[in-house]
Parts: sequence; structure tokens; C-alpha cells
Amino acid sequence: MGKIAPSILSADISKLGEEVQMLDQGGADWIHVDVMDGHFVPNLTFGPNVVEAAKKYTDLPLDVHLMVEEPETMIDSFIEAGATGLSVHAEATKNIHQVMQLIKNQKVAAGVVLNPGTPASFVEPVLAIADMVLVMTVNPGFGGQVFIAEMLEKIEKLAAYRRENNLDFLIQVDGGINEETIERCHEAGADVFVAGSNIFGAASPADQIQKLKTLVN
Ligand code: DX5
Ligand code: ZN
Repeated sequence: MGKIAPSILSADISKLGEEVQMLDQGGADWIHVDVMDGHFVPNLTFGPNVVEAAKKYTDLPLDVHLMVEEPETMIDSFIEAGATGLSVHAEATKNIHQVMQLIKNQKVAAGVVLNPGTPASFVEPVLAIADMVLVMTVNPGFGGQVFIAEMLEKIEKLAAYRRENNLDFLIQVDGGINEETIERCHEAGADVFVAGSNIFGAASPADQIQKLKTLVN
């Protein structure tokens, strides 16, 4: 059963509460929150207060994707705000293993994220403690970009590693996910599918969530 995690990056932030409620009622599995600091990526988005606000409108897991330098400085405030999962970029910290341990110590799901230019082998040493690996299928920073097909091989590699080592981390994909690319990622071994513009750009975002779900179940 694949999970659909709509990204509120593409939502109308002036009515965030309604948008989150709509995703919840529309059958989203998780709510994906893209946090950008203007340094790790050239865009600036949400702080912990947005997670706290979203939580008032849903009981779904709040999946926080930290596109920030030195994520270790922000973990506590996002957990206090109500994040149920925190994913940190392997490229953004000097000690990815330690950051993931800090997250797990607080009983929150720990994800490790790979930019398109970072190979799967770079995070092999942390896969045994990872609850999730997020394979970026675009370069992070903006919604609405084109899916990078070369990432399918990275997903396959991670799925093979998981099988061979009897691990159970989830594989998430993020960027350029639509009706066509979601199926290819699913076939390659991905389990959780982030989609922003494809869902919010649809005439009915709720129907679009259902449509994407049928493609990965
Ligand atoms: C990109 C973000 C994504 C983004 C996906 O930096 O991490 O979550 O919202 O947007 P789409 O689905 O429009 O590519
Ligand atoms: Zn994201």
C-alpha cells in the first residue's frame, strides 16, 4: 500500500487550515511540510509555527522535510511543534548519524534525504537506523519541477539493499511526482509519494489524491 503525502508547499497558505482539512478528508496519508532556510536551498518557507498550525486541523502524520543547514539546531522546536517524522539531508550536516539518533531518541521517525547528486552509497552507514530514506527526484527548493528519471536507479538500489539486509525503512520520493512518474517510482520500490503541484494544480485535489492512490495500491 503506497502512501500519498501531499506537500503544502503548493497550498494556498492564506487558508492553510482549510487546505490541510481538505487533504485530510481527501484521503491523504501524511501531510508533507517543506522547510527551507534560504541557505541550503535558495528559497525560504515554513518554521515550526506552521507545523503547529497544521496540527490543529488534522490528526494525520506531519512529515517534516528539513532543507536547512545544520538541521541539528532545529530538531527540538519542530518536534515540540508536533512533527511526527523529521527528514534531514545527508549533505546538510557534519554528522548525519548523530542527528538521526537525536531524532529517534525523541521517539520521532528519522528520515535521511539524498539530493539528486548524492549517491545511495553515501548513506549506507545510517540505513540500519533510518525509518525512511527520501530520494529527491528534483533538486530541492521549488515545487513544479521536472522529475529526474536517473533517480529510478537510486530507488532500485536502495530497495535491493533493504531486501538484502532485511531492513524495513520506507523509501519516499519527492519532486515531479504525477500520474506517470508515480508508477515508475512504485515499480522501482518506493513506498511514500510526495506530490505538490500535481495535487494542488488539479481541478479537484481530493480526487487527485484518490487517483494517485489507485496507481500505487
Ligand atoms: C522540493 C520539495 C517538494 C515539492 C514537490 O524542494 O521538497 O516537496 O513541494 O513539489 P512538486 O510535487 O510540485 O514537484
Ligand atoms: Zn519535500
